[in-house]
Amino acid sequence: MDFKEGLQIYQQTINQELSKYLRKKEGLEKVLNESMEYSLMAGGKRIRPILILATYKLLSNNTNYDICMPYAVAIEMVHNFSLIHDDLPGIDNDDFRHGKPTNHKQFNEATAILAGDSLLNNAYIVISQDIQNTVNEKEKNAKIQIFNEFSRAIDKMLIGEYIDTEFEGKKITIKDLEYIHQNKTGALLTLCVRIGAILADCSEQDLENLTRYSEKIGLAFQVKDDILSEEGNAEILGKPVGNDKEKQKCTYVSQYGLEGAKDILETLTEDAVKCMEKYGEKAEFLKQLAMYIANRNK
Ligand code: IPE
Ligand code: IPE
Ligand code: MG
Ligand code: MG
Repeated sequence: MDFKEGLQIYQQTINQELSKYLRKKEGLEKVLNESMEYSLMAGGKRIRPILILATYKLLSNNTNYDICMPYAVAIEMVHNFSLIHDDLPGIDNDDFRHGKPTNHKQFNEATAILAGDSLLNNAYIVISQDIQNTVNEKEKNAKIQIFNEFSRAIDKMLIGEYIDTEFEGKKITIKDLEYIHQNKTGALLTLCVRIGAILADCSEQDLENLTRYSEKIGLAFQVKDDILSEEGNAEILGKPVGNDKEKQKCTYVSQYGLEGAKDILETLTEDAVKCMEKYGEKAEFLKQLAMYIANRNK
């Protein structure tokens, strides 16, 4: 199976699982539920849940992903919460995402804020329910560790979003820019890899190595996002181009120039691939995923 096919199968698996968690479009909260579904099922790439599943498979040799599913669903809920709020007028004020009006444009600001809040909270419902349902004590403890890491990664994402917004139009050091990117985007990607690894009950050494891989792709993912905001195709991306520049965002492109950002992206990707070498053929998908992150056009 080639990489693209593998990616599509993962995406289908995740979409199918997510559809089980959609709330009924009825009652007084009908529009709120529609608004949550509008963003959750809008056609995201599902990179974060895919990282959970692929890491789990690498370290457990198991392709029954049942144990991962609540976490795959929860992370995609949180990610879409972050996107809905990121697009709000008070943050990035963007009108398009996934080729459609952003949530607050399609519904209204109050609904978008609350749909985001509900997605975040539903993620906690899904995870806490899974922990409550777990009988095996060792597995339960691993899941409690994941719950803690999950909450902390979201905290980092929010810190990153705050600094990103606060520093629009201001000068920033390279160290602080890296801090923004590691927090606003890197933290959730690292979390996903670690969830897959912890659920696979891997060794401390593997957890460390996979964490290093995740930190490289986490930063690379946002550097590529910065590059796409500069030179991407809005139609393919499904979101605006030129918006970072317009808002004078601190990005790898504003700091290093387009070519400089591309060089950094290449190095990060090479480093990520190197972390996977010791797993040989088995790690082919995660290697290809690092390259996909660097070469994607959406
Ligand atoms: C976009 O993330 C926001 C960033 C953290 C850069 P994705 O590019 O993963 O978003 P979707 O879900 O695939 O649209
Ligand atoms: C995305 O930041 C980070 C989060 C949503 C947490 P951006 O503002 O750079 O992402 P896009 O370009 O709007 O997707
Ligand atoms: Mg933003
Ligand atoms: Mg944005």
